[in-house]
Amino acid sequence: MEQLLQQIEDYKKEITAYTATDEKAAEEFRIKWLGTKGLVKTIMSEMKNVPNEKRKEFGQILNEFKQLAETKYEEMKSSTSNFKPQTSNLDLTLPGDSIPVGTRHPISLMTNRIISIFQRLGFAVAEGPEIEDDWHNFTALNLPEHHPARDMQDTFYVQQNPDWLLRTHTSNIQIREMQKGKLPIRIICPGRVYRNETVSARSHCFFHQVEGLYIDENVSFADLKQTLYFFAKEMYGNDVRIRFRPSYFPFTEPSAEMDISCMLCKGAGCNVCKKTGWLEILGSGMVHPNVLSNCGIDPNKYTGFAFGMGIERPALLKYGINDIRLFSENDVRFLKQFTSAV
Ligand code: PHE
Repeated sequence: MEQLLQQIEDYKKEITAYTATDEKAAEEFRIKWLGTKGLVKTIMSEMKNVPNEKRKEFGQILNEFKQLAETKYEEMKSSTSNFKPQTSNLDLTLPGDSIPVGTRHPISLMTNRIISIFQRLGFAVAEGPEIEDDWHNFTALNLPEHHPARDMQDTFYVQQNPDWLLRTHTSNIQIREMQKGKLPIRIICPGRVYRNETVSARSHCFFHQVEGLYIDENVSFADLKQTLYFFAKEMYGNDVRIRFRPSYFPFTEPSAEMDISCMLCKGAGCNVCKKTGWLEILGSGMVHPNVLSNCGIDPNKYTGFAFGMGIERPALLKYGINDIRLFSENDVRFLKQFTSAV
């Protein structure tokens, strides 16, 4: 009996002295003292050897012992769980681990800037499929089969089904939007397009476009000019000069290309503008009545304008890049240099 009491005293000292700095140490404590084969259970089992008259007194001692172990364990758990730091070891003045932040692709920067300008005029962004059928990419746009203007855009066809192709422009989105029949339409259509061209520093077999479409009653060429005027000034600065040249697209009539004064030589003539002082930035025109009818819109009631521009060329100019292939090589050393399109 004496021996047993002494043993309990020793155990109590050991428990009081124990410190756990992490959850693992706390768990070790639990197993040693409170587990099914733990020392608390072992000591409890001594009860049967204690003479009757001593049982009450011994029972109290045992309870205290058990409670000591349990309280100690509870304390350890609450101080080690929830990742509670050991404040004494924590140096709050150390710099934290920095999270590497990526940068936007220059093409995305340009595209987003163009989109935000048109959004301010009330245009909404619309998207569509890159693999398209012939009708949405050509026929609906007043380019029936064998139309010579189909050759203006060298097309990649899908081998398994020649009715499918990689869209040559994002005009397919405009067709799909018109087919929905909800008027008026005021959309901007960004996306990747494909043309079977030899890859070089100046051209690639895929590139990016933003096209736009505005259809309502009484939309006129004056609206087209004013909208694109606003865009050019917002995009290229108030000093930029703008001119429209008559052009041809099967899906618009009349059609016009828009030039801006060369931002590098300010119109004096340099290598980039081929000594003309002007840079061509987009194609545009009044939506051809055939296109409206093809999409179920009454051309006698509605008129509209459309425009389309490539993103790569202006991005090359803006960032002073001399090879279009850099945009698609995924070299982070190139990509991380771009932070803003302004
Ligand atoms: N779809 C034409 C192209 O890809 C651009 C364009 C759109 C021209 C709308 C006129 C009107 O070249």
